[in-house]
Amino acid sequence: MQVQQMDLVTQYKQLKTEIDDAIQKVLDSGHFILGEAVKEFEQTMANYIGIKHAIGCASGTDALQLAMMAYDFQPQDEIISTPMTFVATIEVMKLLGLKPVFVDIDPKTYCIDPAQIEEKITEKTKAIVPVHLYGQCADMDPINEIARKHNLKVIEDCAQAIGATYKGRKSCTLGDVGCLSFFPSKNLGAYGDGGMVLTNDDQIAQKLRMLRVHGAESKYRHIFLGINSRLDSIQAAILNVKLKYLDGWNEKRRQVAAKYTELLKDSDVIVPYTAPYNVHTYHQYTIQVKDRKRLQEYLKTKGIATGIHYPVPLHLQPAFKKLGYKEGDFPVSEQVSSQVLSLPMYPELPEEHVHYVAMEIKNFLAA
Ligand SMILES: Cc1ncc(COP(=O)(O)O)c(C=O)c1O
Repeated sequence: MQVQQMDLVTQYKQLKTEIDDAIQKVLDSGHFILGEAVKEFEQTMANYIGIKHAIGCASGTDALQLAMMAYDFQPQDEIISTPMTFVATIEVMKLLGLKPVFVDIDPKTYCIDPAQIEEKITEKTKAIVPVHLYGQCADMDPINEIARKHNLKVIEDCAQAIGATYKGRKSCTLGDVGCLSFFPSKNLGAYGDGGMVLTNDDQIAQKLRMLRVHGAESKYRHIFLGINSRLDSIQAAILNVKLKYLDGWNEKRRQVAAKYTELLKDSDVIVPYTAPYNVHTYHQYTIQVKDRKRLQEYLKTKGIATGIHYPVPLHLQPAFKKLGYKEGDFPVSEQVSSQVLSLPMYPELPEEHVHYVAMEIKNFLAA
C-alpha cells in the first residue's frame, strides 16, 4: 500500500468543474493581479474569520513581512517568537533588520510558553509573534496580557491554523494582526503561492494595502517604501471556491486525528495533545518517537511517507548563527525537534490507510 503524506490531486478532482470554471472566468476577464476575484475573496475571508480587513498578498512569508513593516519597527528592535517554527517566521525579522528573541515552547502544545516570555522583554522589545504550530493556537490570553502590560504588538503566525479556535474565537482575530499562508499543502491551499494579513485596525489595514503595492497610495504616488506582494486573481478565484469546504475539511482532519490517537494511544509514541481551550485543525498530525530515524525509514519501506516539522530548531540553524544562541538554550524545542514525526494527514485520507499506518508503527515498535 502506498500512503502519501498529503494528496492535493484527489481534492482537485473532486472540485474540478468548479475550479476550472473559476480559473476560466479570470482568464476571460483579463485581470490577473488583484482585481475583482481578489476583492471577493478578501471579503469572504473577512466574513469567515470574523474580522474587518483581509488583505491578500503573495505568500505567508510576505504576510509576516508586511505585518512587521506596517508597524515601523526600527533596526535592532526585538521581536519575541519561538525557534520551533518554519524558517519564514524568523527570516523576515532578520531581513527587516529586526532582532529575533527566542522563547522556548510548551512541551505539550509545541507553541510558545507564555510563562517564559516576560523574562525576555527589554526596552527594545516591540512585538510577540506566537506561532500556532501544527494547527492549534498558542495560549493567547496570557500572551495578550503581557503584550498589553509592556505595550507590545501581537502578530499571529496562523499559517498552519486557519479555522482553528481559541476559547471559541478564530485564529487571526486573537492579536493585532494575523498572517495566513495559502501554500498548496496548507489546510486552505492555492495552486501556487498566496498569503493574507488580517486585522481589525483600520489604519494598519490601509497601510498594508499600500505596502503590498510598493507603498503606493494611488498609481505612481508612493508614500513610503513597500514591496511587490499581491495575490494573483487566479489564486483568489481558486481559494474562493475552496473556502466554503474548509470547515468540512478541517472536521475530516480532526476525524483522521482521532482515529490515529485511538489506535496509537497505548503504544510507545507521544500523540498530539489538544489544549482544552483549543479546537485543533491538524495541519499536521505530529507524534513524538524516540527512534525516529529508524521508524521513518521503516515506514518508507512499507510505502508510507512522513515528514519532520522541524528537524533543527531555528536557533541552531547556520542562517541564525549570529544571534549567538547555542545548543541547550531551548531544551524543549531541541528535544521535540529530535523526535517529531508527522504522519500522513489530509481530509480525504482513507480510514484503511490510517489503520495501516498505525499498524506499521506498532509493528516497528514491537520488533
Ligand atoms: C508557521 C509558518 N509560518 C510561515 C510560513 C510561510 O508561508 P509561505 O510558505 O506561504 O510563505 C509557513 C508555511 O510554509 C509556516 O508553516
